[in-house]
Amino acid sequence: MANVDIKMTVNGAEVEASAEPRTLLIHFLREQLGLTGPHIGCDTSHCGACTVDINGKSVKSCTMFAVQAAGSDILTIEGMANADGSLHALQDAFREHHGLQCGFCTPGMIVRAHRLLQENPNPSDEEIRYGIAGNICRCTGYQNIVKAIRVAAEQLNASQEAAE
Ligand code: FES
Ligand code: FES
Repeated sequence: MANVDIKMTVNGAEVEASAEPRTLLIHFLREQLGLTGPHIGCDTSHCGACTVDINGKSVKSCTMFAVQAAGSDILTIEGMANADGSLHALQDAFREHHGLQCGFCTPGMIVRAHRLLQENPNPSDEEIRYGIAGNICRCTGYQNIVKAIRVAAEQLNASQEAAE
């Protein structure tokens, strides 16, 4: 089938690439755009390793075609760092509090946690667990992931208050 040109905004930059209409978004991101942060853990919509943020919602990028995301505003783990290049509070907290082991789930987990904290800046541990229920980690037992998200939330809230 003939390729189609697909334009979208990814991590703040407008991008355009050509792909077959059947190309899944996760494959488009990884293979056409070279963004290999989002991972493929299952290809069946279960693991959440491919999670990206699309127009303000967490989406498993193996569940849609790239053409369906044309014109969208997408955030991947590659766009999470602060403008000065320092780690985002979530990335820092995952590192400091052992929220990862092999790291395979981490890009999707952090992008999902980012949206969760946009939706609920001060979640309880139960709300964090519910919020990341679509993201599977086979290493950590989740305890330190929940802790890292809680610490990041506290830090982001403190920074927000200091800025006001
Ligand atoms: S690769 Fe998309 S949910 Fe597992
Ligand atoms: S750290 Fe290995 S799957 Fe989560």
